[in-house]
Amino acid sequence: MNRIRCDRTPAWGQLQAAFEATGRTFDVRSAFAADPERFEAFSQCAPHVFADLSKNRIDAATEALLLALAQQTGLADHRDAMFAGDAINTTEERAVMHWLLRTPPLDPAMPAQSVHRHMAETLNEVHTTLDAMLAFAEQVRADDGITDIVNIGIGGSDLGPQMAVLALDAFVLPGKHFHFVSNVDGHELNAVLKKLKPESTLFLVASKTFTTIETMTNAQSAKSWFESHGGTDIARHFAALTTNVAAANAFGISTTFGFWDWVGGRYSVWSAIGLPLAIAIGAQGFKEFLAGAHAMDEHFRTTPLARNLPVRLGLLDVWYRNFHGFTSRSVAPYHSALKRYPAYLQQLEMESNGKRVDAAGAALPYGTAPVIWGEPGTNGQHAYFQMLHQGTDVAPVEFVAVKTPRHDLHGHHALLLANALAQAQALMLGKADAGGHKHFTGNRPSTFLLLDELSPTSLGALIALQEHRVFVSGSVWGINSFDQWGVELGKVLAKDIEARLASGDVTGLDGSTVGLLALLT
Ligand code: F6P
Repeated sequence: MNRIRCDRTPAWGQLQAAFEATGRTFDVRSAFAADPERFEAFSQCAPHVFADLSKNRIDAATEALLLALAQQTGLADHRDAMFAGDAINTTEERAVMHWLLRTPPLDPAMPAQSVHRHMAETLNEVHTTLDAMLAFAEQVRADDGITDIVNIGIGGSDLGPQMAVLALDAFVLPGKHFHFVSNVDGHELNAVLKKLKPESTLFLVASKTFTTIETMTNAQSAKSWFESHGGTDIARHFAALTTNVAAANAFGISTTFGFWDWVGGRYSVWSAIGLPLAIAIGAQGFKEFLAGAHAMDEHFRTTPLARNLPVRLGLLDVWYRNFHGFTSRSVAPYHSALKRYPAYLQQLEMESNGKRVDAAGAALPYGTAPVIWGEPGTNGQHAYFQMLHQGTDVAPVEFVAVKTPRHDLHGHHALLLANALAQAQALMLGKADAGGHKHFTGNRPSTFLLLDELSPTSLGALIALQEHRVFVSGSVWGINSFDQWGVELGKVLAKDIEARLASGDVTGLDGSTVGLLALLT
């Protein structure tokens, strides 16, 4: 596989020239006026997701150059290397195979099946593990004695399952209550424990490494609480979801569901880390979630780049970040159940692509991950949309809306959809007739993602779409999207400071930390 960094391709210079010639002054309103087919040209169906890209600052010539950039950087080879199981996470020497977790079992009658045959054994292991996890999920669902499921985990061991359980609230088994404890701040665990009884609680300790200090601390406190409140059967009330089964056993948990080092934390909701979701929506629902994601994998793997939605979105991200200089993207889900979707995307994009060196370790002369932020619409409208419409910075907005709601409250859904469309329209059209404080410049870009309904299948497809679009921009930027060394330094320093909080020793510390420690000790 030959990856070429984006700034070393001919297309990069051509994009710079195109940006200066027409990109900088590109006006989406004029583009619509000049091309009655613009909506058709810049919108498309992908599995379970319809995407309208037509309100973006892009035309056919720019998209052609971006596709040339993708080709010249070796995007297709890089993608194929991921699907071949190559160790594309080079700094950790690991394959990147979260997609295998949603690959159906091999059918001997279909030799041309997507998964490479040399992975047949690993795929069998995936399905054996999945079957065991789903059987456990069904057992918990059928067990009326268990009413509360507490997931203890952080980062990818929290955000994925939490986001998905909330998003699929309409599918959650009545009588089961889900709690997510991630923060080491004791207030969080304490607030959850106050509501629980040991005999009706199942704790899921979710940690890929089973070493993360926040999770270990919360798990230890949960275990102490359980035992001190009369709980006896750890095997029934605690399960661990981890690649480090030995550490979970040493901790005292014998019920374990494993996964593999080729599943990155932020890509792990499809693995045993998804157990809370499987309990919530059942084995069949979880399989539909995997199937939706698999359909998107196949779209990404096989569709020509020009009609490949993750590719188009990822290239647009590069266009905005490196040529227009936009430093953030606002995510606006017009569905209240998607309340943790922005937080989930923050980790996915910013932990994957928040890198300042290329895959070879050389410093980059261009920007990478944008800041991802947002809140469910319409709440965001009454908070920060002011800035999106009239601020000095432009932040592209990515709307998500759902055609059919899962409630029958009269009038609400039409109003919600009207707001989503109106906001996208207002960002683009602006308003020039009032002047002064009431002037809206318009030409503010947005993308509109539309799902028929929010279901396990469509959520799976939406999340896989986002994973692959992050792959695309990271690939073009020439970085390793699958490591996260940037989180390590703080962890080391926290250990040192924790000891100093106890001892009061400030030797060798910087003046600010000395001052703050003096106030705290
Ligand atoms: O500190 C970052 C990180 O490693 C994330 O990448 C990961 O999702 C999270 O911590 C939790 O890690 P673990 O699942 O090993 O507890």
